[in-house]
Amino acid sequence: MKVGVIGSGGREHALCFSLKNSNNIKQIYCFPGNAGTNSIATNINIDINDFEKLKDFIIQNGIDFVIIGPEKPLVDGVVDYLEKFNIKVFGPNKIASQLEGSKIFTKKLCEKYKIPTAKFGVFLNSKSALSFLQNCNFPTVIKADGLAAGKGVYISENYSEASKAVEEIFDGKFGKAENLLIEEFLKGEEMSFFIISDGKSYKMFGTAQDHKRVFEGDKGKNTGGMGAYSPSRLESDKLNEKIVNRIIEPTLKGLKDLGCEYKGFLYAGLMIVNGEPFLIEYNVRMGDPECQTLLPKLKTDFSIIIKRCIEQKLHDLIIEWHNDKSICIVLCSKGYPDTYKNNVTLNIKKLDLKKNQFIFHAGTKLVDNDILSNGGRVLNIVTRSNDFKSARQGSLKILDEISWNNGFYRKDIGYKVIQ
Ligand code: AMP
Ligand code: GLY
Repeated sequence: MKVGVIGSGGREHALCFSLKNSNNIKQIYCFPGNAGTNSIATNINIDINDFEKLKDFIIQNGIDFVIIGPEKPLVDGVVDYLEKFNIKVFGPNKIASQLEGSKIFTKKLCEKYKIPTAKFGVFLNSKSALSFLQNCNFPTVIKADGLAAGKGVYISENYSEASKAVEEIFDGKFGKAENLLIEEFLKGEEMSFFIISDGKSYKMFGTAQDHKRVFEGDKGKNTGGMGAYSPSRLESDKLNEKIVNRIIEPTLKGLKDLGCEYKGFLYAGLMIVNGEPFLIEYNVRMGDPECQTLLPKLKTDFSIIIKRCIEQKLHDLIIEWHNDKSICIVLCSKGYPDTYKNNVTLNIKKLDLKKNQFIFHAGTKLVDNDILSNGGRVLNIVTRSNDFKSARQGSLKILDEISWNNGFYRKDIGYKVIQ
């Protein structure tokens, strides 16, 4: 089979890597890919927002199915577009992608199907938002609707912080804002919970915890993710059951009532408060870097899982995992998530990786045989081990060997699971 992967981050390199391990896959195309995917796939330099060019290439090259990595093309309807030309695609359609594309869509679904989530209000202008904030409890959470690449969420400690957030959102800092959400602040521990769905049935696809803040101790600005570990320390059969019964199934039912089958990965960002799960947000794709942490633990052939999803025959497949721990540490360009330099050389060709270690590229590109940085998040260093502590040590050792002058990374990824 020939398969296409759309995207260019660490998640997409991990997807290509898992497909590459399968005997069923003859060729992988990555659109547009990075220096890492280049070594196992054919990188195709097409803008992933240009659906027509993607479609032409997929048809001309007889690609059997396509996996969509990032949220933007999903929310913009790439699945609906490609399916019109009978291309087989793994990912949710435009209606279902509103789960990530519109926080208000998701909140309304929660309301209708009694899915536990933070109490909220929707405000159409700054006057009504500010008037509500004058009498509300702090901290409170203020969110821009729509995609904001992990930004667009403010936890405000007082009225003055909150009014600044309202002003920034309505000023268009995260794109045109027609409304915003003000949410009750939930105090608990976060957990990322994944399922994979073929539209008729679904399977759990692991848990993880990422670290979104840029500095150690979870301080500083939000980023796309500085590292992650799997499984979450909160995972248990009892909690899984609550999540599935109270959150996942009512969501899939809600979509079905809208005439929509959910196909693809679904990532529930949860807050666990005293053992009870609350939905914070949905993402209609794998997490990045959670995907890099999870996929190396997969025992079952990944291409078979995706093929079964596309054929809507997932129900009788048993998905098996290695029962160990996994940690991913992200090497970033100095200055990320603000300004940073690109095109800085990385010397990583001679690294001594063990069998349980993996490097997934994110912002890298190949120029005249040299690997150069090409983004804020540059490399993902993953180690699997029997315990989190040695997994982290393994990744830190590789980062020490890389010793990249232009880079920085958090040394404390997984601190909650490591004494
Ligand atoms: P989101 O983009 O909705 O995932 O929000 C980004 C981050 O803000 C989450 O990962 C949480 O750490 C935090 N957050 C969002 N909503 C809430 C809430 N209602 N209560 C507490 N923390 C929240
Ligand atoms: N790691 C968070 C995300 O992928 O949205």
